[in-house]
Amino acid sequence: MNGQTIDLEKIKNSSDGTVRGMVSAGINEVMVNNPYFAAGGGLMLLGTALALGRQGVVKSSGFIYRQLLVDLEIPSKDKSYLWFLEWMSQYKHRSSRHLSVETNYLQHDNGAVTTKFSLVPGPGKHFIKYRGAYMMVNRERSGRLLDMTSGAPFETVTLTTLYRDRHLFSDMLAEAKKLALKAREGKTVIYTSWGPEWRPFGQPRKKRVIGSVILDKGVSQTIVNDVKDFLSSGEWYHTRGIPYRRGYLLYGPPGSGKTSFIQALAGELDYNICILNLSEANLTDDRLNHLMNHIPERSILLLEDIDAAFNKRAQSDEKGYTSGVTFSGLLNALDGVASAEECITFMTTNHPEKLDPALLRPGRVDFKVLIDNATDHQVKEMFLRFYGDEPELCNEFMAKFKKLQLTHVSTAQLQGLFVYNKRDPHQAISMIETLRNPNSVF
Ligand SMILES: Nc1ncnc2c1ncn2[C@@H]1O[C@H](COP(=O)(O)OP(=O)(O)OP(=O)(O)O)[C@@H](O)[C@H]1O
Ligand SMILES: [Mg+2]
Repeated sequence: MNGQTIDLEKIKNSSDGTVRGMVSAGINEVMVNNPYFAAGGGLMLLGTALALGRQGVVKSSGFIYRQLLVDLEIPSKDKSYLWFLEWMSQYKHRSSRHLSVETNYLQHDNGAVTTKFSLVPGPGKHFIKYRGAYMMVNRERSGRLLDMTSGAPFETVTLTTLYRDRHLFSDMLAEAKKLALKAREGKTVIYTSWGPEWRPFGQPRKKRVIGSVILDKGVSQTIVNDVKDFLSSGEWYHTRGIPYRRGYLLYGPPGSGKTSFIQALAGELDYNICILNLSEANLTDDRLNHLMNHIPERSILLLEDIDAAFNKRAQSDEKGYTSGVTFSGLLNALDGVASAEECITFMTTNHPEKLDPALLRPGRVDFKVLIDNATDHQVKEMFLRFYGDEPELCNEFMAKFKKLQLTHVSTAQLQGLFVYNKRDPHQAISMIETLRNPNSVF
């Protein structure tokens, strides 16, 4: 009541006695004298104070979070995303209640398939202890955004740890990368085009030893030397302003080892292979150009059966698709590959006579090699490779091979005969006549 008297007194004494003074006095009287309003006001004040307090807590916790914690976000588009998930699936000191399964097929050289399940951390929160530091791993799926190329939802993994432990992030990613690369060691990754980008096709394959592909005398070494020389001449090309690329054409009959040789060469150089199928439906000039300018590093671009792509160009397959790549589109794409990195293109064909000379001009194809049916040298080498050091049996095989005047025998046919008689060279010798028919099935 005292407060009220003082207020009224103030108004009374106010020299101007304005309307404003009277209104505020009226409000004051109603608020203070009326018990309902007084209680409401109190509540309001309390509510405001609580809200402010809450905001303060939120703000200060945000402040503390910013000061004490640090986040690292890895989006699914980034290479390290899969590395990290794989690393975490093998990491022991973790607590995960949400797992997702990732199935890997592993195809062995003999064609058998084994499956491996890795339990990678699924969407949700996980905790790990890494070198004494606790980290929270939050894998989140963005509900709306879709990766248009794969149809998979975009995801992010966010790692949170104490600010003082932030240096552990890079150690951890380096470890994840090392683990991923170790799994690829001694392997060749085959990439195929997937929409506008290159994707690994299946599991990385075991490198093929270059010596296992038997070409005619000196051919393999000549190509290997040429490629190695090219790879070490970057500076030479750059100072002369010549595009740093080299095109190779391997031509010859089916089953002579063209594709196998390129795979073995990639293994020898520790390169990967990007296979582009020019007859693929929906491949347009634009996509071709984009793909050829975005080849993963340390990769050989392989264009198989280059003649077939344009024979079929005018036709459409049963679904009505036609290949969208035009011949001039291919020439432009080959010319336009403009990168500081080296670019090695290998093309193969069974019908070099069908190729347009424009494709074969230097700059597009710089090195042409005939990979032909088996020569005597190759037959001998293949026999010894399959049956070991058996010179007498080898001579017997060669004598029979010549006596029967076998010509046009592919190395693939020889391999077929030797694989069929894995442990029995005598049997192989007695079955030699089957080589007359290129399609004989044992
Ligand atoms: N010169 C060779 N040395 C060792 N193996 C060979 C050789 N040629 C072919 N082969 C074997 O034959 C099979 C087919 O070979 P590959 O696919 O390399 O032939 P290609 O020349 O690419 O045939 P195509 O022209 O039909 O594509 C492979 O399994 C490979 O191991
Ligand atoms: Mg081939």
